Formats: sequence, structure tokens, C-alpha cells
Amino acid sequence: MANVQTFFMCFMVVVTVVLPATAQLSAEFYDKVCPDALPAIRSVVEQAIQNEPRMGASLLRLHFHDCFVNGCDGSDLLDDTATFKGEKTAKPNLNSLRGFDVVDQIKAAVNSACNGNVVSCADILAIAARDSVSILGGPSNQVLLGRRDARNASFNDANIDIPAPFFNFSNLLSNFQNHGLDLKDLIVLSGAHTIGLARCTNFRARIYNDTDIDPEFAASLQKVCPITGGGNKTAPLDATTTIFDTVYYQGLLHSKGLLHSDQELFKGNSRESDDLVRYYSYNPDAFMADFGASMIKMGNLEPLTGTNGEIRMNCRKVN
Ligand code: HEM
Ligand SMILES: *[C@@H]1O[C@H](CO)[C@@H](O)[C@H](O)[C@H]1NC(C)=O
Ligand SMILES: *[C@@H]1O[C@H](CO)[C@@H](O)[C@H](O)[C@H]1NC(C)=O
Ligand SMILES: *[C@@H]1O[C@H](CO)[C@@H](O)[C@H](O)[C@H]1NC(C)=O
Ligand SMILES: *[C@@H]1O[C@H](CO)[C@@H](O)[C@H](O)[C@H]1NC(C)=O
Repeated sequence: MANVQTFFMCFMVVVTVVLPATAQLSAEFYDKVCPDALPAIRSVVEQAIQNEPRMGASLLRLHFHDCFVNGCDGSDLLDDTATFKGEKTAKPNLNSLRGFDVVDQIKAAVNSACNGNVVSCADILAIAARDSVSILGGPSNQVLLGRRDARNASFNDANIDIPAPFFNFSNLLSNFQNHGLDLKDLIVLSGAHTIGLARCTNFRARIYNDTDIDPEFAASLQKVCPITGGGNKTAPLDATTTIFDTVYYQGLLHSKGLLHSDQELFKGNSRESDDLVRYYSYNPDAFMADFGASMIKMGNLEPLTGTNGEIRMNCRKVN
């Protein structure tokens, strides 16, 4: 037994040296080992969105919240354990992240299609995000693969690393820059709010206190979201909440951003940020192309590759 442990320790040291953290993801990663993996995932995502159109938004957000907390390693899918408090109950995620059951269904379908456990939960999130966007009318961009799954998760890091809806513009930009993303990525990836919903608790201060909001828009939201209570009541993030389009940006031009953070991107002046919002509002082709590119950048955040991490059997638990 002691020999086995010694062997493993030597092995791990060698691996750390041989495989640097810069190992690259690739579009073809599963082509040989399981050519049916991507179609199997897409078909579960299609079914889930057919059952509930919002699910596409929820799956896209799962990938974002994974990548922004210690890289795209499937950490936001882990339940709490005796050795770590996970990310699911952190402030940005509690009563908010959803789609965990669909991820379980995808995992089962892909393991069956592959006759084994070969596709990581982190890659499942990246593929499901891409498929969701594409099914709802957005770009069918390439997705880079080969991520492996984390063996732990961090409640604290989830609280620190995910941007909050009360952030101002400089908070948002610094947060993205801390993740190696730039102003254009911030504007483009925020366009994900072209789909999905937010809870009253996250837009209450905006609709009662902000001044850069269309008054009729604020009044209609106040009917859904009372000044106290009703924190879980939801409203759409843009006017076409199940279509991946540029209506989100058009809303910002008219002071109809739902979140304070959304409207921070457009203040009606000549900042670079305002110019980008205007540009995407009338240029859907540019938005689709740039969204695909920024998703690749986000998906490249600190992946575990090679023999680091593991391929989790159950996305909710370490092996
Ligand atoms: C720029 C900073 C961002 C902030 C402050 C932010 C904040 C939020 C908040 C507060 C919600 C509503 C959650 C709730 O009320 O339960 C939300 C929803 C959502 N966010 Fe973001 N977000 C940001 C960027 C992003 C990015 C980069 C993506 C993906 C690329 C994304 C995708 C989504 C989606 C799709 C939803 C709707 C989810 C659903 O309906 O289940 N967000 N976001
Ligand atoms: C868990 O993750 C943290 C980073 O969030 C890392 O510092 C720590 O070493 C990890 N612990 C284990 C047991 O892997
Ligand atoms: C943004 O918020 C931070 C606090 O988080 C504050 O220090 C800063 O002054 C604010 N920036 C602007 C431009 O309002
Ligand atoms: C509006 O702002 C005031 C003063 O900062 C604050 O006391 C109040 O709670 C805010 N209202 C909402 C609904 O956030
Ligand atoms: C929102 O719903 C969750 C359960 O889904 C509940 O635990 C929580 O108390 C609710 N929050 C509010 C503000 O109503």
C-alpha cells in the first residue's frame, strides 16, 4: 500500500511538470473518443427548452457562473460536502441558479451515448450554453473542449468573483478585467441578458430609486415587484425574453435596462461603452459574431486539462 502511494505521489509530480496549465482546449476533443457526445447533449437541451423556454437562459448562466469562479471547471454544480462549502448557496446563486436537473439528464444521456464516463461536467456546461444560444436564435459558434472537473468548490470565491446587479460601470469593468476580459467582452457578454428573467430582489432598488429609468417601465415593474416582499417575483431581462436578439441593447438606449448593472453600460453619452451598446443595438450580425468570440474567451478561463481534476461521474459530487 505504501508503495502504491509513493508511486502515485511521484506520478503526480511528473504530471505537474509535463502538463503546464496552458494546455489548450480543442473543438475536436471528443470527435474520436465519442462522436455521439455533442448530438446527445444537443438533443437533451432541445427537449428541455421545448419544455420550458427559460431553461436556455438558465443553462447559459450556469456556464458563466462556473467560469467566473476559479475557471470553467464545473465547480458551481457541486453540492456542499463535509470538506467544503460549495457555490450553490453563495449570494449570486442561492434561489437563482437553476438547470441542475437538466445537467443531470445531459450527463446520463452522454454517458449512455459514449458507453462510459468521458465527457466532463465543465464541458457539458460549455456545450449546453452554446446549444441554448443557438436554439433560441443566436450564433451556433464553435465550442472548445477538453476541460476537466474540479474536486472542490468555493463559497467565498463565488461571493467575491461574480459581478453583482448593484455594481456601477467601473466595478463591472474591473471585475471583467480581473478575469482577463475587456470592455468589449463586458458589453458583448452582457448581451446574454437578451434571454431569461431576474428576481425582484435584484431590481427593486433600480425601479424605486434609480433616475436613469424610463418612468412607465419603472411603474409597470413596480406592479410586479412591491417595495417590500415578493423578492422571488420575476421579470424579463429584455422585451423578447426567449429570443436571442439585440433587443436587450435597444432597451438600454431607452433606459429600459432591468438591472442597475445593465443600464450602467449605457448612459447616453459618448463613452466607448455607450458607443458599443449603440453599435450592437442596430448590428445583430456583429453581435452574433462577437458573442461567439467572447464566449470562447470566457470558456478558456483557467480550465483544468490533461490529468488535472477528474471526469465527474455525477456532476453534483466529486468521484
Ligand atoms: C455583467 C455583469 C452581470 C451581472 C451583474 C449579472 C447579473 C445577473 C442577475 C442579478 C440575474 C438575475 C438573477 C436572479 O434574479 O435570480 C442575471 C440573470 C442572467 N444572467 Fe447575468 N449578469 C451579468 C453577466 C452575465 C453574463 C456574462 C452572462 C452569460 C454570458 C449572463 C447570463 C445571464 C442569464 C442568461 C440570466 C437569466 C437566467 C435565467 O433566467 O435563469 N449574465 N444576471
Ligand atoms: C480547494 O480550492 C481552493 C481554491 O478555491 C484551493 O485553494 C484549495 O487548495 C482546494 N482544496 C482542495 C482540497 O483541493
Ligand atoms: C463605483 O462604486 C465604487 C464602490 O464599489 C465606488 O468606490 C466608486 O466611486 C464608484 N464609481 C463611480 C464612477 O461612481
Ligand atoms: C432607496 O434608497 C433609500 C436611500 O438610500 C433606501 O433607504 C431605500 O431602501 C431604497 N429603496 C429601495 C427599494 O431599495
Ligand atoms: C424565495 O424562494 C425560496 C425557495 O425557492 C425561499 O427559500 C425564499 O425564502 C424565497 N425568498 C423570498 C424573498 O421570498
